[in-house]
This record gives sequence, C-alpha cells and structure tokens, in this order.
Amino acid sequence: MRTITNVREMQKIALQLKREGKTIGFVPTMGYLHDGHLSLLKAARKENDVTVLSIFVNPLQFGPKEDLATYPKDFERDSQLAENEGNDFIFYPSADEMYPDSLSVTAKIHDRTDVLCGKCRPGHFDGVATVLIKLFNIVQPDKVYFGMKDAQQVAVVDGLVKDFNIPVEIVPVTTVREQDGLAKSSRNINLLPAERLQAPSLHQSLKIAESMVSGGETNPQIVIAKMMDHIKKNTSGVIDYIEILSYPELKQPNLLEGNIIIALAVQFSKARLIDNMIIKLK
Ligand code: PAF
Repeated sequence: MRTITNVREMQKIALQLKREGKTIGFVPTMGYLHDGHLSLLKAARKENDVTVLSIFVNPLQFGPKEDLATYPKDFERDSQLAENEGNDFIFYPSADEMYPDSLSVTAKIHDRTDVLCGKCRPGHFDGVATVLIKLFNIVQPDKVYFGMKDAQQVAVVDGLVKDFNIPVEIVPVTTVREQDGLAKSSRNINLLPAERLQAPSLHQSLKIAESMVSGGETNPQIVIAKMMDHIKKNTSGVIDYIEILSYPELKQPNLLEGNIIIALAVQFSKARLIDNMIIKLK
C-alpha cells in the first residue's frame, strides 16, 4: 500500500491506472476508521482492480461551532487497518495541499438540504460537494462507496453526480453497528462512559418506529412522538431532530407510504450522533 500526499501525484497515478484499463474503487473518509469504513473498503476491494482510500478532514464542511479542531485523528492506526483490508493507495493530503488558495468556485446544493442535518448545518453539504468534486477529479474513481449512516449525504451526492454528469457509480453500503445497536462512528469515541451506555437508545427508538409503521401506523407525528419519548426517558442527550421523510427525495409526507427514511440526530456533551432507518412501505 502506498500513501500519497500530493494532489498531482495522486491524479497522475489514477490517470495512468485508467489508461491501463483498471477500475478504481474509492472510499472517501475523514479518517479515524471504524468497522463502517472497513465495510466500505471491503466492498471496494471486492468490486474493483484498485482501491483508493482518502483521509482528509475537510474544513469546508464544518461550521464555526462544530468539532473540526477535536475531530479524532490517528493516521498510523488508519493506515494499518487499511493495509489489512488489502487497500492499494491512501490519499492523505494536508488542508494546504487541497486548498492552496481560496476557492474561486464552490458547489451550492439547492435540494435535499433543508431537512435533517442540512437544516442545522448550513453550508455543510456545499462543503461536502465541493471536496467530493475535487476528490473525484483527483482519484478518477469508477465506483465510490458511502455508508448509509449518513443517508442524506448519499441522497445529496446522488443529486450532485446526476446534475454534473460525473461518470462515477455511487455504491451505498449498510450501516455497521456495535453489538448493542449503536451505529459505528468516529465520533462515538467522544461519548462519556455514561452516554455510551445510553446511546443504543437511539437505535432502539428507530426499531420502535419500524414496528409502528410496519404495524400500520401512517401518521408520522405519532411515530415521532413515541421516538422522542423513548430518547428523552433513556438518555441525557438533546434531540436535534427526528424526522420522517420520503427517500431519496427527502420530502415531508402527510401519510407514511412508499420509501421512507426515519432519521434522528442527538447531541451529547461532546458528540453529536446521527442514525436512520430506511423502510419500504407499500
Ligand atoms: O462522510 C464523510 O466522511 C465526509 O463527508 C466525506 C464524504 C469524506 C467528504 O469530506
């Protein structure tokens, strides 16, 4: 496995691989890898000739009050984990390498962002889209792998790729969970021990919602109220949102039908956790 820190070098390697007719599977991350990321790498390894993992904590997608400074980092560990998965290249640029000058062009997302995390993180998905356009041009992937834990990100990137005719296939991968149901996340490390014990209640609330809607409940407000109740009773976290929307359009339904996403975000003292479930109704 090779680590590349230079944009031009990574792009040269990728273009050469394409000339040789090799397929490139790409896993973009911000590092501090967990089993969720490894499941993306595994899928990429299976389906492509060459795999590229990027590790870049993208300042453009963090708001002024968000955790850019405390975002966990451990390159040595990440590198070992990626190597164990048979990964070929790690692209690991510095912020100065990615953004040597202030950008004269950035992406602006117009749809699917006024809900869920987009609502309380203005500009977040613009930052994600901007860095992904750069990364796609640098890494030249055939397939790019995203975890469904951030289902809104998958919906937004789907729009980006379609609208800009980017020749890459998005591969969504199921959320990987701890044994107690907590979705794996780099941010879980920032939970206090008591909060870590409470955190599985988030997934439990999604399971409660799932059994309500599969049992025929069609009123989203009734389902949301039950989830809120469960989280408030069982955690010290503050609920940012619980929403039920159509997926991938992310529109508010009056009645629950078709493909829906039930999604939540809860702020603990030093970690904001998100989770979701996608359900196909008739
Ligand atoms: O999901 C993430 O880790 C980031 O949003 C991504 C896709 C690597 C872009 O910085």
